[in-house]
Amino acid sequence: MPLSPLRSSSFSSLANIVALAVFLLLLTAPTSSAQLSNNFYSKTCPNVFNTVKAVVKSAVAKEPRIGASILRLFFHDCFVDGCDGSLLLDDTPSLLGEKTAAANNNSVRGFEVIDGIKSRVEKLCPGVVSCADILTIASRDSVVLLGGPFWKVKVGRRDSRTANFSAANSGVIPPPTSNLTNLIKTFEAQGLSAKDMVALSGAHTIGKARCASFRDHIYNGSNIERRFALARQRKCPRTSGTGDNNLAVLDLRTSKHFDNNYFKNLLKKKGLLNSDQVLFNGGSTDSLVRTYSQNNKVFDSDFVTAMIKMGDNKPLTGSRGEIRKNCRRVN
Ligand code: HEM
Ligand SMILES: *[C@@H]1O[C@H](CO)[C@@H](O)[C@H](O)[C@H]1NC(C)=O
Ligand SMILES: *[C@@H]1O[C@H](CO)[C@@H](O)[C@H](O)[C@H]1NC(C)=O
Ligand SMILES: *[C@@H]1O[C@H](CO)[C@@H](O)[C@H](O)[C@H]1NC(C)=O
Ligand SMILES: *[C@@H]1O[C@H](CO)[C@@H](O)[C@H](O)[C@H]1NC(C)=O
Repeated sequence: MPLSPLRSSSFSSLANIVALAVFLLLLTAPTSSAQLSNNFYSKTCPNVFNTVKAVVKSAVAKEPRIGASILRLFFHDCFVDGCDGSLLLDDTPSLLGEKTAAANNNSVRGFEVIDGIKSRVEKLCPGVVSCADILTIASRDSVVLLGGPFWKVKVGRRDSRTANFSAANSGVIPPPTSNLTNLIKTFEAQGLSAKDMVALSGAHTIGKARCASFRDHIYNGSNIERRFALARQRKCPRTSGTGDNNLAVLDLRTSKHFDNNYFKNLLKKKGLLNSDQVLFNGGSTDSLVRTYSQNNKVFDSDFVTAMIKMGDNKPLTGSRGEIRKNCRRVN
């Protein structure tokens, strides 16, 4: 049945209003990652991905743990005011950076590799690629080089002109003594679900922790396998302040390989940190841990989803922030 001119025009004006409303909503909605894309540098720095990968590859070949350290830098950057490279800034007389906040002090590492990447990328395309993006790409490459899954990295982040020590020190990065409630809460504060949190915790399939981070758990934990605790106690003295920096692998079997062994350890109550073992301790995340321990593909896929989501966290885009020349200093 043909529509009358009146009906047709009122229909289309209604459609126009709806379309306009949707358009305005999209413009104003807090889609913080709106301007991130896979091809942000395809015209301005087409070789950035190969360049980053080459530097990470030689660093990981020299020391596999450095891949773990870089991945952790990305997490600690993204959880404090978004993925904006703020963690990379050194302290100056006028800027108290994030490097000495409780979760980072004497613990975060890998900055020299980021510097090395930055100087190569600056030679290739001066003033184009942010430190925040370099850290994002280098984290993905670290996972891949250690045998984990590949994914396409979204880029287009810019670098902060500030850092925030008190924010970094305020508990937004959860401590290793955290209970499950606190882990879920701190991740939800960043727009990440409990499922994202469990998948991302699987990053502890690589790298190491200091005695100071797991002392309480191995001496006082009730949810730890006895012989495992005793073995870890041999290189981590009970007295706080002694041997604080002694290291132990987070995944006792394959700490240089990105796999789902971390979750298998949890089923045996061999998680190194309290925050690891609470993921499998009779609570709401037990079934997810069991799933990941049995199915590496599901773990990989959920880990990738969560990494992309974490990387979307409040980036500086457009004309906000800057492209630092040196990742340790504002321009
Ligand atoms: C769920 C909450 C988390 C807590 C409480 C936590 C805590 C810790 C602690 C205490 C260490 C050892 C630091 C030290 O002793 O110096 C560590 C290491 C590490 N964390 Fe986490 N973490 C969490 C989540 C994550 C996430 C989301 C990632 C990345 C996606 C990650 C990646 C790593 C890596 C790779 C290491 C080893 C670093 C190295 O060897 O240098 N962690 N974590
Ligand atoms: C960081 O660690 C150093 C060396 O252990 C210590 O002297 C300093 O007080 C710590 N900084 C903060 C802010 O806790
Ligand atoms: C730094 O973080 C603190 C605590 O989260 C917040 O109150 C403060 O406004 C932040 N400062 C800046 C300059 O963003
Ligand atoms: C979990 O940890 C939070 C923060 O440290 C604390 O306030 C809360 O009481 C703890 N909850 C339980 C059930 O222990
Ligand atoms: C373990 O718990 C006891 C008793 O609550 C406490 O005195 C001690 O400091 C805790 N930590 C270690 C590492 O033993």
